Amino acid sequence: MSEEKNSVKILVPATSANCGPGFDCLGLATTLCNELDFTLLEKKEVTAEVEGEGAEDIPHDGENLIWKSAETVIKRAGRSEEFKGAKIRMKNRIPVSRGLGSSSAAIVAGLFAANEILKRPFDKNKLLEFACEIEGHPDNVAPAILGGFTVSTMEKGKVQSFSFMPKINLKLVVAVPDFQLSTSKARAVLPENVSRRDAIFNISRAAMLVAALLEGREDFLKTAFDDAIHQPYRAKLVPGMEEVFSAAKNAGASGVALSGAGSCLIAFALEKNHLENQIASTMVETFRKHEVNARALILDIDKTGVKTA
Ligand code: HSE
Repeated sequence: MSEEKNSVKILVPATSANCGPGFDCLGLATTLCNELDFTLLEKKEVTAEVEGEGAEDIPHDGENLIWKSAETVIKRAGRSEEFKGAKIRMKNRIPVSRGLGSSSAAIVAGLFAANEILKRPFDKNKLLEFACEIEGHPDNVAPAILGGFTVSTMEKGKVQSFSFMPKINLKLVVAVPDFQLSTSKARAVLPENVSRRDAIFNISRAAMLVAALLEGREDFLKTAFDDAIHQPYRAKLVPGMEEVFSAAKNAGASGVALSGAGSCLIAFALEKNHLENQIASTMVETFRKHEVNARALILDIDKTGVKTA
């Protein structure tokens, strides 16, 4: 069998989970993408060449997350006898362990690539189910697969995700600190229970955020990205977080949030105001005052999610 026939090139987006109040259920896809060249092999051999972000840390063998995810599709499609290995070439632009969904991107890339080569035995909803089984929660994998802004629910392991493009044109300003923050460490600082007051605070903001984005009501965004159930506890893990948030808002951001479990911070700016460069530099400068080196990315919301290149 020729290698070309069993090869695919794909693009998978970085994602930002939570979007402030939507802990473990809201997410969005960005225009920052990893590129993957993927070939399924008949022989039992996995090789990975990695360029860019995380090149030193990503496993280059059968432990590679892209391969492990691809294997899920191969097994569920009943094709394990035909395909036992893979050749992986990655060009990574998504910073690793920074709250931009790098592991979700790897999972989604592997699932999608194998599914394409096998001539799509599964639809996107099924891929989403597999991705949630591997990742444990839907807030990064859903936007990586579907694109746009996503709202997800999980019920007895079954995931439902609704994806839409906001009616407000937003620029995403992401400050990327030079330190990694593991999701497990960022989850370990969270309390087991939240008060009724904080629950109401978050439910009202999350509902307001989705309603405002769907209806194009930018006047309702000012408080809609606020959170009381995870960010306050995680602030101690990201030096200067509150000050960077205030600086970004003072520079004109409509809202600010910790991206996923951090360490990135994300500001949401109205495209029509053209303030994204100012917001980016003030976020980086404010981080510097807290002895954190950071760089800024200015991104858009990605419409499509994972796709062939
Ligand atoms: N919702 C998750 C969290 C995202 O905030 O812990 C990290 O993967």
